Amino acid sequence: MAEFQAILLEKSGEIVTPSVQTLDVSRLPDGEVTVRILYSTLNYKDGLVLKGQGGLVRNYPHIPGIDLIGIVEDPGSSTFKVGERVISTGWRVGEVWWGGYATEAKLKSEWLVKAPEGLSDIQCMAIGTAGFTAMQCVLALEANGVVPNSGEVLVTGAGGGVGSVAVSILAGLGYEVIAVSGRPHLEGYLKDLGAKNLITREEISELGKRPLQSERFAGAVDTVGGDILAGVLPAIKYKGAAAICGLAGGAGLKTTVIPFILRGITMAGIDSVMAPAEERTKVWSRLAMDLPKDKLDATTSIAGLQDAIKMADEILAGQVRGRTVIDVNA
Ligand SMILES: NC(=O)c1ccc[n+]([C@@H]2O[C@H](COP(=O)([O-])OP(=O)(O)OC[C@H]3O[C@@H](n4cnc5c(N)ncnc54)[C@H](OP(=O)(O)O)[C@@H]3O)[C@@H](O)[C@H]2O)c1
Repeated sequence: MAEFQAILLEKSGEIVTPSVQTLDVSRLPDGEVTVRILYSTLNYKDGLVLKGQGGLVRNYPHIPGIDLIGIVEDPGSSTFKVGERVISTGWRVGEVWWGGYATEAKLKSEWLVKAPEGLSDIQCMAIGTAGFTAMQCVLALEANGVVPNSGEVLVTGAGGGVGSVAVSILAGLGYEVIAVSGRPHLEGYLKDLGAKNLITREEISELGKRPLQSERFAGAVDTVGGDILAGVLPAIKYKGAAAICGLAGGAGLKTTVIPFILRGITMAGIDSVMAPAEERTKVWSRLAMDLPKDKLDATTSIAGLQDAIKMADEILAGQVRGRTVIDVNA
């Protein structure tokens, strides 16, 4: 009987334990398309799942990994072809459904998109959910009229996965990017990605002490929430916009309506998980076109399944730099 390798999460009482195991393919849940997985990634959400936090996983044993790229082995009744390169991000794969930290998966065809031309397997996963979300944020800024000559654009949590990719895309498009990071030692890295300047978390949080600050930023990509986002909003220029995608610093938001009703600013909420198919196609094609590949490569590290287990604490503590691609065969 054929076997595959995976990180399996097992729960005993309240304790969730991850381990790399060899499993029989008959254990894979039902799914229309069988995919031989090549790479996955490590996202903040993967850290939560690996540690059994956030109530994301309903049933154990479970295979984590919210992103995957692989080759179609059996397309079932779908329109995919044997040997086609496909990507899955979101749809609660790796949370409710068995995910990408495995060499084999069975998935619904509607969860899969064809991997875009012009991006390698590793680059697609270096993008993964984090990069996909970063591009959704950029599209939301564009849709709200924030363009490269509008002025400075802030990216919070800039050293993380979503933040690093957002800095690269925005700088590549010609925006003036100001990176907010709690890690001053990342200044060289963030400037290499195209950030014009780096400012501290404290400097931004401080701005939240008044309902309005002087108009400073045309837009923002916020991956952090909490006090950082509360500091961003009062400093957004008239008719500016902030794309809101994350809660690395907290889900709460203590702010006022003043910037919204006096400056007409917009908060654009971003969800990557349930994004419809046409949005996904647009996002991937803009990523293939607008994300500078050399910058993407510079944000990317490669790790194996065992490393993913070890890195769960690091990503939850905000210590991982850029994007980590998981080679599921390593
Ligand atoms: N809406 C969606 O569909 C969607 C999709 C993907 C991700 N997300 C969310 O976006 C966030 C970022 O994801 P990611 O994968 O980029 O995670 P990540 O790689 O861990 O990056 C998060 C970054 O936020 C900063 N940070 C961490 N803790 C902080 C704190 N207590 N206060 C202020 N800043 C803090 C750190 O950057 P610095 O050290 O540079 O400050 C960290 O690197 C997460 O909350 C994730 O759940 C949402």
